[in-house]
Amino acid sequence: MAEMQQIVLARHCDGPPVPEDFAVETLPLPEPKEGQFRLRHVWNSVDPGTRSRLSGGDSYAAALPLGKPVDGFSVGVVEASEHPDYPVGTKVFCAAGWRTHSIQSGRGFLGKVPEALVPLSAWIGVLGVPGLTAWFGLKETARFKAGDCVLVTSAAGPVGATAGQLAKAWGAARVVGIAGSDEKCRWLTEEAGFDAALNYKTTGDLTAAIHEAMQCGVDVLFDNVGNAMVDRVLPLMSMHGRICVSGQVADYNVAPEARAGIRHTAPFITHRINMQGLVVFDFMKGFPEALGEMAAMLASGRLKAKEERFDGIAAMPEAFCGLFKGENFGRRVVKVGEE
Ligand SMILES: NC(=O)c1ccc[n+]([C@@H]2O[C@H](COP(=O)([O-])OP(=O)(O)OC[C@H]3O[C@@H](n4cnc5c(N)ncnc54)[C@H](OP(=O)(O)O)[C@@H]3O)[C@@H](O)[C@H]2O)c1
Repeated sequence: MAEMQQIVLARHCDGPPVPEDFAVETLPLPEPKEGQFRLRHVWNSVDPGTRSRLSGGDSYAAALPLGKPVDGFSVGVVEASEHPDYPVGTKVFCAAGWRTHSIQSGRGFLGKVPEALVPLSAWIGVLGVPGLTAWFGLKETARFKAGDCVLVTSAAGPVGATAGQLAKAWGAARVVGIAGSDEKCRWLTEEAGFDAALNYKTTGDLTAAIHEAMQCGVDVLFDNVGNAMVDRVLPLMSMHGRICVSGQVADYNVAPEARAGIRHTAPFITHRINMQGLVVFDFMKGFPEALGEMAAMLASGRLKAKEERFDGIAAMPEAFCGLFKGENFGRRVVKVGEE
């Protein structure tokens, strides 16, 4: 009998996730019913935000029950179809989880991959949710405008690196990134076109280092890390500065009562600062246009995307756990089937 595999949550995570929190499961290959198609996954992603569903309690997303497949994004090829719009051979990206195959109905976050101008894996990376988060976080949540001075945290990750490059492309006066190694900082300035990059692990007084690197204050803080980072930047925010709360990766493994707080709140009043959270799916109507523009930028080399590739579905837990130790340098994608 034909089979598929998936990675399920074996026990709730307590603190940083470890590979033992997950298990590989083998199942019979499901057949699509009318109006459905079966997608053979080629690439799956691992995403830090997935951690929010793994502790057993509800956060902004409902808790994932034990034994259920873990969330992630996938791109693959239709291999059996009862859906008129998705014939066999169609390439599709979607939110389908850590599996080798899935049954899809053509609804939800899902799209056809257009012509092969860029690698297929890009459709779950810079042309997937990370790229869209950067695009809409900057444009809509941070209300970016040309001439802004922009600071990005976790800047070498797929969201941060794309946000910084989009800001430069859209006319930022200065873009500075914060990352956790000298190698990441070098890539940001030498490859991705950031004006400066700071290694937060070695700078000492981070607020002073940001002040010196920015040169023009901080009009936009695009934050992927959490309160500890925001608190260090607040004293440097410009008048009418905007903070996009994209993610809080430093806090995902920490109990709410133990998380860093924000103490430098006076600038909210004195500098009329706006701090706003982002859920990228609020902007789904604009996804096709944003993806079209970013695909053109990527194909022409105006947008750089770093990727780390893993092989085989069993590698997904290890690839995921490394995100919280700063091990990833760019988007982590896992090959689970042939192209
Ligand atoms: N709002 C939305 O709709 C939305 C959608 C998608 C993603 N997101 C969020 O966007 C953020 C970035 O996502 P991504 O996919 O690009 O992942 P990412 O930035 O590559 O996340 C992993 C990186 O985070 C950094 N990190 C991990 N623990 C840290 C800590 N304790 N302190 C400081 N940095 C730490 C590490 O980089 P360093 O080596 O630089 O420390 C690590 O390599 C995440 O928070 C994610 O949840 C939001």
